[in-house]
Amino acid sequence: MKLLHIDSSVLGPHSVSRQVSAAIVDHLRQATLSLTPLSHLTGSHLAAAQGGAADATVREDLAAGQAMLDEFLAADIVVVGAPMYNFTIPSQLKAWIDRIVVAGKTFKYGAQGAEGLAGNKRVIIAVSRGGFYGAGTPAAAGEYVETYLRWVFGFIGVTNPEFISADGIQVGPEHREKALASALQAATNLRAA
Ligand SMILES: Cc1cc2nc3c(=O)[nH]c(=O)nc-3n(C[C@H](O)[C@H](O)[C@H](O)COP(=O)(O)O)c2cc1C
Repeated sequence: MKLLHIDSSVLGPHSVSRQVSAAIVDHLRQATLSLTPLSHLTGSHLAAAQGGAADATVREDLAAGQAMLDEFLAADIVVVGAPMYNFTIPSQLKAWIDRIVVAGKTFKYGAQGAEGLAGNKRVIIAVSRGGFYGAGTPAAAGEYVETYLRWVFGFIGVTNPEFISADGIQVGPEHREKALASALQAATNLRAA
């Protein structure tokens, strides 16, 4: 079994989502860690991907993106750490998603519309948020981490991604500890690999 572990918090050892995603990996007991930063896609990337000329920097970056896609396609389980930054995922994680959502590789358009091609894997996502965004809360409409990731993984065929969330991390130290402990406990309760 191949497990791919993607983290996106910039806070290193202080990160809640990194601690929870590490606990998930620990629980599942196998890890291949992937953390190479990727550039954002530019017009030059898209032109080069269509066979146009590209400079060395773009070529290297496209090769790194292809390696990320290959790694994703080869994985049986993908563990993602996803903190909320300004109501959505960090741009680093979006840059990774831009390299793995690829027509003909992870989705295609057929007679029935879009069809996901990556449904053969289990995706587990550790979300951490400073506040609360649950149904019925005033900020619920501002939640674009879980809603987005659920949609984008569903689009490529992973219809049931599993989420473990630590919420209210910025409310105060006591709440942070409680939310982290509860998320770490949830990680140990995950279905075995
Ligand atoms: C740049 C930045 C933007 C943030 N934006 C939000 C936000 O919009 N809503 C929120 O509830 N928390 C926000 N937070 C708080 C983080 O979601 C929270 O601290 C979370 O634990 C970060 O994940 P990490 O501990 O894995 O780094 C933000 C934090 C940072 C660093």
